Amino acid sequence: MAQGRLPTRVMVVRPGEEDGPAVQEAGAVLRAGGLVAFPTETVYGLGAGALDEQAVAGIFKAKGRPADNPLIVHIDSAARLGRYFRQVPERARVLAAHFWPGPLTLVLRDDNRFPAIVSGGLGTVAVRVPDHPVALALIRAAGVPVAAPSANVSGRPSPTTAAHVLDDLDGCIDLVLDGGPAGLGVESTVLDLSGEQPVILRPGGVTPRQLEALLGPVKLDPAVNGASKEEKPRSPGMKYIHYAPRAPVVLFESDDSAHMAKRILAEAESLAARGQRVGILTCRDNELKYQGQGYVVIATGRRDDPGAIAAALYESLRCFDRQPVDIILAEGVPAEGLGLAVMNRLLRASGGNVVKI
Ligand code: TXA
Ligand code: MG
Repeated sequence: MAQGRLPTRVMVVRPGEEDGPAVQEAGAVLRAGGLVAFPTETVYGLGAGALDEQAVAGIFKAKGRPADNPLIVHIDSAARLGRYFRQVPERARVLAAHFWPGPLTLVLRDDNRFPAIVSGGLGTVAVRVPDHPVALALIRAAGVPVAAPSANVSGRPSPTTAAHVLDDLDGCIDLVLDGGPAGLGVESTVLDLSGEQPVILRPGGVTPRQLEALLGPVKLDPAVNGASKEEKPRSPGMKYIHYAPRAPVVLFESDDSAHMAKRILAEAESLAARGQRVGILTCRDNELKYQGQGYVVIATGRRDDPGAIAAALYESLRCFDRQPVDIILAEGVPAEGLGLAVMNRLLRASGGNVVKI
């Protein structure tokens, strides 16, 4: 497939048009070994036919993704699990029945049905059924499982719109299906079911509480809250600086939102005095406190509404790239519900540069 030179084609898919010619054509591009970005309920994915080693290699090339960071395989229904995994653990079936289609990725033992490049030779494969009509129609049109990471250049914030995908990958991939903004705004929860005890490798759209209601106690991988650099994370994606805008990010953590705002203002003043152009990522509640002082202020959602914060997070981080800022001071949010995923992404975006108050 032609990659690299021509601008990427964009095809809009409106609600109700999922079975139309655009998705059929995208399926044909995947069957021919091409790369198609598509909307899911979490973020946009960059898909290739999961059984096609060369096409999957194209994903790594387009994103500049390290080869040891494995991909999620997207299937169109839980009923397909048996086709690609010889032994599907009972708890995987229970979770799939409950959460699929939806933002939960299950890491299962690899039965060598996918080329090694998909799983980075880890001995496990990550799989999920996305809850988006365009994604599901695309997988069906392709007729094969679709391997897809988030459709951003490696290390950058994940894309929640077709425009974000083009910002990063225009000319490097064949096609983008534009199905409007992704709803959730943070990626799926990655749950490792390959060992004795289920372990959350990446917090996401399904919360620990939701999982525990079905599974009992679930462990959180130490890398989620920023393990030491030496520790080898079980989810290779967790070791890289990630989700980052171009300017460095400092993350502030506190239970007391008003107190945190004061600290951020003091820090912003001292940075500005040294000639730094300061960006501030804030919850709506504190927005006014930062305004009118020459800072670039971008607000997500209300502090007590982690869903709204998650939905706005990546667009907000990308917004700073369009503004003249040298450094971004980011408010932390309570790590509850979807807030856990938000804090995990902000921690990665900051590269561990955290001020605990
Ligand atoms: O919501 C999502 O999950 C989106 C949409 C497109 O489905 N996809 C996504 O993919 O976020 P990606 O590649 O950006 O993140 C996948 C994460 C990475 O942290 C990767 O290391 C981990 O899942 N992962 C994939 N396969 C794994 C495996 N076999 N074992 C452990 N971790 C795995
Ligand atoms: Mg990603």
